[in-house]
Amino acid sequence: MIQPTTAAEAPALAALHASAFPPEEAWSADALVLMLEMPGAYGFWQPGAGLVLARVAADEAEILTIGVAPAARRQGLGAVLLRAALTRALAQGASTMFLEVAADNIAALALYTGLGFTAAGRRRHYYGQGRDALVLRWPAS
Ligand SMILES: CC(C)(COP(=O)(O)OP(=O)(O)OC[C@H]1O[C@@H](n2cnc3c(N)ncnc32)[C@H](O)[C@@H]1OP(=O)(O)O)[C@@H](O)C(=O)NCCC(=O)NCCS
Repeated sequence: MIQPTTAAEAPALAALHASAFPPEEAWSADALVLMLEMPGAYGFWQPGAGLVLARVAADEAEILTIGVAPAARRQGLGAVLLRAALTRALAQGASTMFLEVAADNIAALALYTGLGFTAAGRRRHYYGQGRDALVLRWPAS
């Protein structure tokens, strides 16, 4: 079962983030607190399994991060978290959601496109080692 996150859970969220992402991309507890304290920010998680953080600003929302621990992948949790973030964004008045994803992140791209996100742009060399980012948006147009 997923539940809303709070800044008080930042240490556990950071441990979970570190399990889902490579070391150079892991967010510290302090960074997660800063994210969660931004206006319009919110998150959901399943402790020990997966998390999503997102933010709404006026009629636009963005996914700040989403990750599922390796042992919990391919069981639908990523889709549940993304749907929850999108549903909350719509409830808060957003009509569009954006996210950035490495162009070579096959798993994440499959998750996003499966839920109706489509490519809206490309940021060249956005990530290290010359990797491009794709900007995806929901809905398609
Ligand atoms: C991307 C990520 C969040 C997906 O989480 P997940 O819980 O495994 O995703 P789900 O089980 O909900 O998968 C939903 C759909 O996404 C696609 N998908 C997920 N993982 C996939 C993979 N490894 N290869 C291909 N398609 C994949 C499938 O279409 C899947 O549906 P299916 O299992 O019915 O075929 C997870 O792989 C992850 O945390 N990766 C590392 C962190 C990361 O890259 N985050 C995104 C940064 S932008």
